[in-house]
Amino acid sequence: MTIKEFVSKRKEEIKEYVSGLAIKPFLVIVQVNDDVASNAYVKGKLKDASELGINAELKKLPTSTTEEELLNIINILNKDNKVDAFIVQMPLPKHINEEKIKNAISPEKDVDGFHPLSQLNPCTPQGIIDYLHAENILLQGKNALVMGRSNIVGKPMAKLLLKENCNVTVVHSKTSKEDMHFYVKHADIIVIAIGKQGYLDESYEYKKDAVIVDVGISRDETGLHGDAKPNLPVRLQTPVPGGVGLLTRLSLIENLLKIYKKKYKI
Ligand code: GUN
Repeated sequence: MTIKEFVSKRKEEIKEYVSGLAIKPFLVIVQVNDDVASNAYVKGKLKDASELGINAELKKLPTSTTEEELLNIINILNKDNKVDAFIVQMPLPKHINEEKIKNAISPEKDVDGFHPLSQLNPCTPQGIIDYLHAENILLQGKNALVMGRSNIVGKPMAKLLLKENCNVTVVHSKTSKEDMHFYVKHADIIVIAIGKQGYLDESYEYKKDAVIVDVGISRDETGLHGDAKPNLPVRLQTPVPGGVGLLTRLSLIENLLKIYKKKYKI
């Protein structure tokens, strides 16, 4: 099943479920940065919510918003009982400490799974695991290679793969090229999130049954591109666009429903 098929099937089920709810789930999106990527992500999240009958509201703040102002808004959202969950779109402007913001969001409303006490997992890694399960890709005892160590993707991805009993290796910008080739050659599952267009290419050797999950997304005049060149000689490679981005968006909705069900004890 392609990611598009997997996501639209699940969205149909969610739409049906939400249509039967008397009180619709209510998600607030706080956006401070006005960059192209954030605008695109937020637009996608609002579109999904509207398609599924979920209430969503965008609070777009000027980039000049201070840390204190943002913390005040978070406090209000934490206390507002009508708001089931909210996200603060990352990245934030440089003058705002992201860790401080993540820690200020009540774990009960943290649909991104960013708070250290959150019961939920961050959306991109969780969406990837859900898809690998749906595709019946065996994880236990397999060599999983996570390329990139960001807080949003690399680190939580490594943790979730470990929970699935994979043998997890994390490589990053300080890993030598020679070691990079070694780890790629031995990997069964590769999750790449380094933000370098076409980094994985034919110069690397792959296991023929390997699975490449491409989290990268960069844009040039010819369109959107992943961190891996298309059509590498492996069993499965997720496309860009139409790949992991859709899984992240679905996962946000799944997390919202988990919060909603817990809140209303259903
Ligand atoms: N920026 C890029 N991905 C994400 C995400 O999953 N959540 C938030 N809040 N910001 C992001």
